[in-house]
Amino acid sequence: MEETYSFYEDEEQEPKATDASWKVLIVDDDIEVHRATRSSIADFVFQGKGLELLFATSAMEARKLISAHDDIAVILLDVVMEDDLAGLNFAKYVREELKNRFVRILLRTGQPGIAPEKSVIVDYDINGFLEKSDLTIQKLYTAIITCLRSYRDIIDLDNANAALKTEFEMRIEAERKMAEQAQQAAIGLAIAQIIHGAKNILNALKGGKYIIEAALKDENLELIKKGWDVTKIGISRMEDLTAGLLDLSRYNQLKPEPHSLNAVVAEVLETCRNTQSCSTMNDVAIIADIEEALPLARFDYKAIHTVLMNLLSNSVDACKDKADGASGRVKMRTYLCGDDYVNLDVEDNGCGIKPEDLENIFKLFYTTKHSKGNGLGLSITKKIIEEHGGKLSVSSELGVGTKFTISLPKDRRHK
Ligand SMILES: Nc1ncnc2c1ncn2[C@@H]1O[C@H](COP(=O)(O)OP(=O)(O)OP(=O)(O)O)[C@@H](O)[C@H]1O
Ligand SMILES: [Mg+2]
Repeated sequence: MEETYSFYEDEEQEPKATDASWKVLIVDDDIEVHRATRSSIADFVFQGKGLELLFATSAMEARKLISAHDDIAVILLDVVMEDDLAGLNFAKYVREELKNRFVRILLRTGQPGIAPEKSVIVDYDINGFLEKSDLTIQKLYTAIITCLRSYRDIIDLDNANAALKTEFEMRIEAERKMAEQAQQAAIGLAIAQIIHGAKNILNALKGGKYIIEAALKDENLELIKKGWDVTKIGISRMEDLTAGLLDLSRYNQLKPEPHSLNAVVAEVLETCRNTQSCSTMNDVAIIADIEEALPLARFDYKAIHTVLMNLLSNSVDACKDKADGASGRVKMRTYLCGDDYVNLDVEDNGCGIKPEDLENIFKLFYTTKHSKGNGLGLSITKKIIEEHGGKLSVSSELGVGTKFTISLPKDRRHK
């Protein structure tokens, strides 16, 4: 390897070596090999960078050097040093223990019989194999160039990956922060609205208290009754508010099981006929139109009962608010919808919903009923239906009436 040789990669003009350089580790127990290698590749330049050569005369020394320099690009590695497999074991150490997948390892041996090329390259993750007896400077240059190119590409890829990963992590973090902020804002808003709702009720209670105190002074029994009526309304609204808020927080863990929607409709009808709480529905006709052969759906019975009661009470309220004074009517209808859903309509001939209200009615605490409503019913309803993987839709015409439709997934095991 006496001849001087110069190699310039893809450059028209000879590039100048910069301070930065490619680190090449030469591991060989023969000092003469070190000297010859140094003199043959001393003037090597690739992509404007020269070489920084590091030398080790044993695998043990090589371990120390590679641990101290994690940016070595190429290792020219002898096989037989401290023992027959010292070089190969060093290669294994670099890949498996140091987990260095970047450095390109070129085996350079004078005893090819000890390290058969194919199995060595596969088993020890070696990138090239040079036989000392057959090694010209040209071959050495070409091998180093090839290794440096792939080292550069691997490093570039790794940097690009790292940059992508960082950007990805930054985005995830930004999204997480935004979601957290949105959640905190939503919690803040909800708390403000709850306090607002509670304050309204408190004012009603204070009004009752004021009337009763004045009545007590005058020993006016009639006025005491009036004050007590106001107070009772306040208490009942507070009960509704707390029950509604509890419903909202409770319906997180539903237990959907196969049930008949017809059964819920029948139970709600029965409840309306029998219970005191539905006495206000007396002026409104409540009709059921059920499909007898309705397949079962999967739902949490109690939750869907709540949904139906919420929709029904809204419809009854709407019928009472009807301007033309015509008699109110609410129809609950069940039917199969396509192959996958079982539907329930709650349709009334009530006051209908103004377009500007329609886009807000599913918002928490949105109500047009002033002191008579908390604006919780539809929020709870929507939440329950969505938790079931179902759908909730509404259509309404002002002065004509409103129809809410809930769709629940059909139970696949029952035809
Ligand atoms: N069937 C309906 N007809 C007309 N308006 C309706 C109907 N259902 C709901 N709405 C409108 O949607 C609003 C929100 O309904 P939601 O059930 O969430 O609250 P609310 O009935 O006002 O109070 P709460 O249910 O907490 O007692 C109602 O205030 C009303 O304006
Ligand atoms: Mg309601």
